[in-house]
Amino acid sequence: MTSEETNQACWLDGAGQPFTIRGAAIPTAADNEVVIRTHAVAMNPVDAIRQKIGMAIPEGGYPWVIGADGAGVVHALGSHVKGLQVGDRVIAMGDEFGTHQPSHGSFQRYFCTSARYIGKIPNDIKLADAVVLPLCLSTAAGALFEKEGMGLSWPRLSDADAHGKQKDLHNRDVVVVWGGSSVVGLCAIQMLVLAGYCVIATASKHNHDLVRGAGAQAVFDYKEDGCVEEVCNWVEERHLSCAGVLASVIDQTGRSVEQCGQVAKRLQGRKFVGTTLARGLMPLPDLGEEIKTSACLGIVQDDLLEYIWKEWMPQALEKGELKCLPRPEIVGRGLVSVNEACEIMGKGVSGSKLVVTDIRATKAIECSTARAANVVPRL
Ligand SMILES: NC(=O)c1ccc[n+]([C@@H]2O[C@H](COP(=O)([O-])OP(=O)(O)OC[C@H]3O[C@@H](n4cnc5c(N)ncnc54)[C@H](OP(=O)(O)O)[C@@H]3O)[C@@H](O)[C@H]2O)c1
Repeated sequence: MTSEETNQACWLDGAGQPFTIRGAAIPTAADNEVVIRTHAVAMNPVDAIRQKIGMAIPEGGYPWVIGADGAGVVHALGSHVKGLQVGDRVIAMGDEFGTHQPSHGSFQRYFCTSARYIGKIPNDIKLADAVVLPLCLSTAAGALFEKEGMGLSWPRLSDADAHGKQKDLHNRDVVVVWGGSSVVGLCAIQMLVLAGYCVIATASKHNHDLVRGAGAQAVFDYKEDGCVEEVCNWVEERHLSCAGVLASVIDQTGRSVEQCGQVAKRLQGRKFVGTTLARGLMPLPDLGEEIKTSACLGIVQDDLLEYIWKEWMPQALEKGELKCLPRPEIVGRGLVSVNEACEIMGKGVSGSKLVVTDIRATKAIECSTARAANVVPRL
């Protein structure tokens, strides 16, 4: 066996333990699965929590491999997989959370996942750029478009009409994205614009250009007193109707979701606050009888899953209508850098996605500098 044919994984041996890099079998693809040869992985807030407290790691499961975001090349395909070939450049979502198999965590040189969570990417998009998308794009889509979520209109392609109408706000309903600089928020804004909505968002001041760049018409600083008032005034001055509010980020005090409730309550239109709380795992906030709320768990609705991953996302990337936002912040090269990336993730990020690239590299390189640490990770 050549060194190319061995697998190495970031193993967790217990809650609060660092990742240890050790050998692992190269996974075998079941009928509807694909094995990816990993090039880059990205961090999510939940990774830091799971590494620290062992959340959602099955009883007696250690040693375990976590990781949701991965990008690489198709290495092997199950016999029922259609539309993919060995060698395709793809982004993929590791599904070990659901399948309870460590071979399905992305923090390894080869990982396996359901063919449903894999999308091809154009040749001119770097794997290390595209890896910012998988889990957060799915989460945003699940929260916004599933029937059990906010049930909003789905994003379209080449919607010149939607772009044209950006100027003409009068025919468009507003969606408010609270936490627009989060990765989920940036994915949500882009998809909502392509679905034809007028999007306004909140973020810290230093992220306003980033959020506008994703397509938000206006951005407000949620740290300022009177933010709810300003958001509502903006919508009312334009005589617009609200189609819903997305709480992309729920802070630990619950203030962000309360503010979303205040916006939904005051604005004319649909009284709906969608959240990124994990459906079935976390209680929904009570915002009063008038306001409906929802949670999500990536995308579970089959037709939406197929549409977003197989149809819309690859073409939207190809046409430049979906951008890989935010730009990745490369923490280092090689699996050896996953520990540092997870540690930084645990302190929180601002308008940024932490990425480890060149997963096959055996030596780490200089890591990124100290970061703003004012955000506490949450599921
Ligand atoms: N249910 C699921 O299946 C699922 C899946 C994935 C993620 N999630 C959850 O979705 C949320 C977003 O994930 P992510 O990866 O996109 O997070 P992220 O990028 O790590 O979030 C960081 C951003 O949160 C913003 N933020 C912090 N506190 C805020 C507040 N009180 N109001 C508004 N914005 C605030 C910060 O904005 P500024 O720096 O601009 O202040 C920062 O840019 C997380 O809670 C995550 O756990 C759920």
